[in-house]
Amino acid sequence: MKKRTMAGIASILLLLTWTFYSYGEMMAQGKEIAGKQTKKGEKMMTYTAKDFSKLIGMAGFSEVLLKNHFTLYQGYVTNTNKLLEILEQMLKEGKTGTPDYAELKRRFGWEFNGMRLHEFYFENLGGKTPLKADSPLGKKLTENFGSYEVWEKDFQATSSMRGIGWTILYQDTTNGRLFNFWINEHDVGHPAGCLPILVFDVFEHAFMIDYGLKRADYIQAFFKNINWEQVEKRLK
Ligand SMILES: [Fe+2]
Repeated sequence: MKKRTMAGIASILLLLTWTFYSYGEMMAQGKEIAGKQTKKGEKMMTYTAKDFSKLIGMAGFSEVLLKNHFTLYQGYVTNTNKLLEILEQMLKEGKTGTPDYAELKRRFGWEFNGMRLHEFYFENLGGKTPLKADSPLGKKLTENFGSYEVWEKDFQATSSMRGIGWTILYQDTTNGRLFNFWINEHDVGHPAGCLPILVFDVFEHAFMIDYGLKRADYIQAFFKNINWEQVEKRLK
């Protein structure tokens, strides 16, 4: 009887020890997994494509055109994230001295700016009211160009230039001056230390579905839909 009791107690102790050990193991594993997730979360500051579907229905822009453009923008976001991951991995593996690394570094400017400029472009669309002459931007345009009309003429002339690219109203942060810039490619020609105030996509994909070669009509459609409230917020 005593032997049976002792054996029973020993079994219970063994079971308790095993349970306690297993629980500890599980907790340790859980912590490790959680740690990996945290670490991964910390290092992977990825970008998420913004939803601009509220622009669908905007006058002068067909749904097909906008949806195609959103898809193209989403591609830039995906590629920006991919490049961040690949470049980080190459840095870890000591592959920074390779031609692959150099080319991907160059490519990063293209993908990142493609992502960000499209965000500025879509965000400065969807407006319904014209710029007020006595608003801070209205006054600043008059101060820099003589009048809103002169600024618009210059912005539209810049946008009508042959070639593909972007027209961007930039503000120089050193003195507040405004410029209409032509940007030929995403990754080159941006003025250092300047803020993009109004961004206009004049790549052919931005208008050809609706306007063919009639870029002037696309420029007019853009001007009818500028979200001046949003644009004004960018001004310093
Ligand atoms: Fe575009």
